[in-house]
Amino acid sequence: MDFSPANDGDRIIDAVDVTYSLDVASRPLHILKGVSLRVAPAEVVAIVGPSGSGKTSFLMLLAGLERATSGRVSVRGQDLSQLGEDGLARFRRKSLGIVFQSFHLIPSLTALDNVALALEIASPELTMKEIRAAAADALAAVGLGKRLDHRPTALSGGEQQRVGLARAMVTNPPLLLADEPTGNLDQETGAMVMDLMFDLARKRKTAVVMITHDPGLASRADRVLTMMQGELTEAAAVL
Ligand SMILES: Nc1ncnc2c1ncn2[C@@H]1O[C@H](COP(=O)(O)OP(=O)(O)OP(=O)(O)O)[C@@H](O)[C@H]1O
Ligand SMILES: [Mg+2]
Repeated sequence: MDFSPANDGDRIIDAVDVTYSLDVASRPLHILKGVSLRVAPAEVVAIVGPSGSGKTSFLMLLAGLERATSGRVSVRGQDLSQLGEDGLARFRRKSLGIVFQSFHLIPSLTALDNVALALEIASPELTMKEIRAAAADALAAVGLGKRLDHRPTALSGGEQQRVGLARAMVTNPPLLLADEPTGNLDQETGAMVMDLMFDLARKRKTAVVMITHDPGLASRADRVLTMMQGELTEAAAVL
């Protein structure tokens, strides 16, 4: 099935009939069974669905971290299957921000350096001064202007996820992928981090594909889709 955004103009994501199968104990496991999704620039899409239905797997394909078994995944008009490992790495650095449930910060680096590193890798042509200034701005945008020198262990969970968000957004990507970004946070902290994410995305016209179990969060997206046993549907979620 094919779900198109209201505005059928240019697309940030064009995934067509995507399957993803793995061999587990020499038997094929069909994780995604023909998933199609189009996302317009600046559109915010939430994906809900039961555990094990294939949500994270689909996000991994969109991020070029795994390869589809069949079908086509295009992001910004680039068919990801045509890219080698270097091309995929470049694509992720330039075009994507990713926020994970577990924050994946580098423990030995300060908040500032965690964010600066992402920008340095994406834009090596910038000077260190420019990079650090942009990283400080990105942290200020998530309310962490006074925590620049804290290492992750000296930050609360909500603060760590805000660093994760700053790191994802510091390169100003056209697409943000988020896999249960509030999964490790209490409800109040999660709501605050998500307010920031929605604010930043709307302000910068970043397209977002977000996986969540939180119906309140999902309802703030432009569209909510449900993953069920490897198929993406517009049916109401049964969680
Ligand atoms: N590398 C792998 N090897 C074997 N099975 C896998 C692998 N990755 C995913 N699976 C299986 O594929 C199915 C979908 O997994 P996926 O992580 O995409 O689910 P999910 O919808 O994100 O679930 P959750 O809500 O629990 O995070 C699961 O049954 C999982 O066990
Ligand atoms: Mg998952």
